[in-house]
Amino acid sequence: MAILLQNAIFATMVGGYGLHEGAVVLEGDKVAWIGALAALPARFANAARHDLGGRLVTPALIDCHSHIVFAGDRAAEFELRLNGASYAEVAQAGGGILSTVRATRAASEAELLAASLARADQIIAGGVATLEIKSGYGLTLADELKLLRVAREIGRQRAINLRVTHLAAHAIPPEYQSRADAYIDEVAIPSLRAAHAEGLIDAVDAFCETIAFSPAQVERLFLVAQELGLPVKLHAEQLSDLKGAVLAARFAALSADHIEYMAADGVAALASAGSVAVILPGAFYTLRETQIPPIAALRAAGVPMAVATDYNPGSAPLASLTLAMNMACTLFRMTPLEALQGTTLHAARALGLADRGQIAVGQRADLAIWAARHPAELSYRIGATPLHARIFGGRFDA
Ligand code: NIG
Ligand code: FE
Repeated sequence: MAILLQNAIFATMVGGYGLHEGAVVLEGDKVAWIGALAALPARFANAARHDLGGRLVTPALIDCHSHIVFAGDRAAEFELRLNGASYAEVAQAGGGILSTVRATRAASEAELLAASLARADQIIAGGVATLEIKSGYGLTLADELKLLRVAREIGRQRAINLRVTHLAAHAIPPEYQSRADAYIDEVAIPSLRAAHAEGLIDAVDAFCETIAFSPAQVERLFLVAQELGLPVKLHAEQLSDLKGAVLAARFAALSADHIEYMAADGVAALASAGSVAVILPGAFYTLRETQIPPIAALRAAGVPMAVATDYNPGSAPLASLTLAMNMACTLFRMTPLEALQGTTLHAARALGLADRGQIAVGQRADLAIWAARHPAELSYRIGATPLHARIFGGRFDA
């Protein structure tokens, strides 16, 4: 049964905002037709009509970088950092990612699922229909698989499309202290092979940083990803410039993420590889970082920029993708158009998905209807969730 959306302003995201004041027909889980109501083809004459009251409609948002499967919280660490400790110092003292690892290992799969579903619900309530989730708080073979299974289960229990990413190379657990190479060989690579064999993952990520893994260690992992036919992406240049983006580009990465400290060589490498730059202003904000990612250089080089929450318990306890858009504009001087492209069209590309991120015939019928008239309002508002309704796979949410 087709549905017809009328009396709305559609930001199709085809050529900029691609504003269209007319009608859109959805059939099954796809967009079937776009045009002026007067030109509606006869075959859609019986479609169920929805008058949207002049509201703005965009493609449903896509959050292309999150770490929502974890247990516990890091409110105490937040306070330590406010008292002057840096993110790296907290991590080196056994806090940071490792404190979440302790809580996550101790949690049962059911507990982890319940906590993660609640976070997925917050994200869905913000107009998101496609979400990427990474592992990375287990750091043993069994615990990484536990996180990845929970991530997959979220997609079965909620109206959301998931892309699941293996991130065992997220931190070095205490039992491998000073033995990062052994961790790559004994945990990261075996868990990658096992997760792939179980069909649990769509991509491979790593944290390339002085407090995590070196480019040489990341490369060993990426070679296995390549052998398995899995695309890669990388947490690169978040705290320092280890040339992670250049490495990622050599593997034709889907994306390089964070990239505050990326230099001109990284920008050029992403441009020639066709990789997306994923901008994560929530982590920048939370860590009170002062080094701004090279937005102007990325723009000049034509590198597509995505914007994501990075939702995680440490550097970005941020559930709202529209707030991330606001931060991308206010903190990084991205334009509201770039911010919306970053959570639709370019976010889809960062996940290797060509069937979403625009309102166009043949695209997935995942739409967000907003209590707004112009798309810039999505970036402009702070703290309100202007979502009026969401359509997932051609159906309005109940
Ligand atoms: O993307 N940078 C590494 N990983 C996460 C933070 C994870 C955490 O602090 O728990 C990030 O910012
Ligand atoms: Fe991250």
